[in-house]
Amino acid sequence: MKNIIVKDKEFKLLLSEAKIKGSIKNIADKINKDLEGKNPLFLAVLNGSFMFAADLMKNITIPCEICFVKLTSYQGMQSGGKVKEVFGLSERIDGRTVVIVEDIVDSGRTMQQLLESLSSRNPKEIRIATFLFKPGSLQCNLKLDYVAFEIPNDFVVGYGLDYDGYGRNFGEVYTLVK
Ligand code: IMP
Ligand code: MG
Repeated sequence: MKNIIVKDKEFKLLLSEAKIKGSIKNIADKINKDLEGKNPLFLAVLNGSFMFAADLMKNITIPCEICFVKLTSYQGMQSGGKVKEVFGLSERIDGRTVVIVEDIVDSGRTMQQLLESLSSRNPKEIRIATFLFKPGSLQCNLKLDYVAFEIPNDFVVGYGLDYDGYGRNFGEVYTLVK
């Protein structure tokens, strides 16, 4: 398998299309079992989750809905941190079982802010489905319900994930060659 170049960096294959397909089928099967009768609302976080969301949803067989949100960052008033707000969520989520669909949980801060923001809208339950998870990088207390792959603490691209906007188009995941 040839390495790829994205902008000025070289990446090598980490997860093949077949491996990705298999793991996503497994977590979809779990979701189908766990959330049967709950009419879940899948909430896919753009841009990174578009491929994962598409392949996951093709394997969901229970009645469900999906919508897409973006997180907009702005400089918060307190302690200089960036605050992320949910943008584009027109559906009501009160009383609903919500499944967040994300590309990657790295430090976990993005997910934590998303959870806080969604919780204020009174959903019945929030579950998290993430394509990738870097356990070695996590800095928050998060319960991840469905994880397709745990990966080392290295920068990856492909399957929706980008390096400076590029590389989202690959059907596999590639890791940086150091
Ligand atoms: P957090 O550190 O968990 O808040 O992750 C923040 C965001 O960083 C993720 O939603 C991704 O968009 C991005 N990110 C983290 N690790 C990687 C990576 O290895 N490749 C591409 N994007 C990443
Ligand atoms: Mg993301």
